[in-house]
Amino acid sequence: MTGTQSPTVPHYDPTDPAVQADPYPLYRTLRETDPLHWNPPGFFLLTRYADVHALLRDPRLGADNGADNGGDTASDGDGETHTERMAGGDTPSMILMDPPGHTRLRALVNKVFTPRSIAYLHERIERIVDRLLDNWGTGEGDFVEDFAYPLPLEVICEMLGVPEADRADVRDWSEDMAHLVDPVVTPETVARGLRGRRRIVAYFRDLVAERRRLPGEDILSGLIRAGTEGDRLTSDELLSTAALLVVAGHETTANMIANGMLALLRHPDQLALLRSSGPSLVPSAVEEMLRYDGPAQAVGRRALTGLDLHGVRVPRGARLVLSLGAANRDPERFPDPDRFDIARRDNRHLALSGGAHFCVGAPLARMEAAVAFTALLRRHPHPELAAEPRWRERTGLRGLRELRVRV
Ligand code: HEM
Repeated sequence: MTGTQSPTVPHYDPTDPAVQADPYPLYRTLRETDPLHWNPPGFFLLTRYADVHALLRDPRLGADNGADNGGDTASDGDGETHTERMAGGDTPSMILMDPPGHTRLRALVNKVFTPRSIAYLHERIERIVDRLLDNWGTGEGDFVEDFAYPLPLEVICEMLGVPEADRADVRDWSEDMAHLVDPVVTPETVARGLRGRRRIVAYFRDLVAERRRLPGEDILSGLIRAGTEGDRLTSDELLSTAALLVVAGHETTANMIANGMLALLRHPDQLALLRSSGPSLVPSAVEEMLRYDGPAQAVGRRALTGLDLHGVRVPRGARLVLSLGAANRDPERFPDPDRFDIARRDNRHLALSGGAHFCVGAPLARMEAAVAFTALLRRHPHPELAAEPRWRERTGLRGLRELRVRV
């Protein structure tokens, strides 16, 4: 494989703790010096906004599902493909599919994820937020464990009709399964991811059977009903969609709320501005949290055909990693990009992806974050950082392990 970097360009290693704590200086070097970075052994990394924005919509790229598309690059580099990661006869979820299968599945899921069904959740989310804040009380606590994680977990479990007694298990499995979207994996993380997926799928197999017998108002029942006679979700599709919704709806949103809180705590002027402006600035603050330090740092794609990028031939079958986190700090698109500015205008970031796979849960994630920060600052207008935060050892989803906060 031809390299495009000069010897001085650093290797992108998202398993490096320093990169996990702050990947942005490395992104900057890559964006400035090597916009199509060949990262041995296995993928091209793109970091400029214009490239990432365009490639998310480019039909010459497909999902990185490891399908044999006759690639010129024989190996995956890291020796592991998504198909292998999803092994065991399970149907891949829509995030790993291309048209026409993806289009069909997404249309069916969209029938259930309507703006109306999301708006309907507003009051329920407020109740969950209030309960979590009641439990927290005052004093010092871990914002991640006590608030950021339980909130989206409760929301997605209520939506899917998962009984309260099962939610702790679902959370553990989902945390394991989230490793499957890491762009850089080890045999251990793959094994952990597959174990989580198997358990979630087994769990939902029973729950789906129960909902078929006794339908409810939850989205699982909605997904069972969605479509027309002859075009409904198959049982395998139902299971992979439910598993995807748990992970996508929970891990990402939790990390967004915690990363966003950290950004506020580290920028007291912005915290003061949000406090004084009240709820009106919350939606714009949420967008800036997503841009400034979003939870989904990168998405993977496969070249379905050979293509030329930055004067280099990218062969058919090559893996590309599109860095949403780097694109969102590109000064060509965002003035003063390293500034956290909750009143930023024209903030069309890529934190929720773009094109065919644009996040299905975007309105829900935005609403959860808005309700959370509105209630939080009303109850606790002067939160303080109580200790240096600790980051999770993850290569795909960026999130905190612990965030000690004093209120
Ligand atoms: C802040 C929170 C969230 C972030 C940052 C986020 C981010 C993303 C990203 C980057 C993708 C696209 C991946 C790609 O292009 O390959 C995606 C897709 C998806 N997201 Fe989210 N997400 C969030 C919340 C949610 C929630 C709350 C749900 C549902 C309950 C959800 C469900 C999905 C689904 C089903 C897809 C697959 C869409 C497709 O393949 O067509 N997400 N999300």
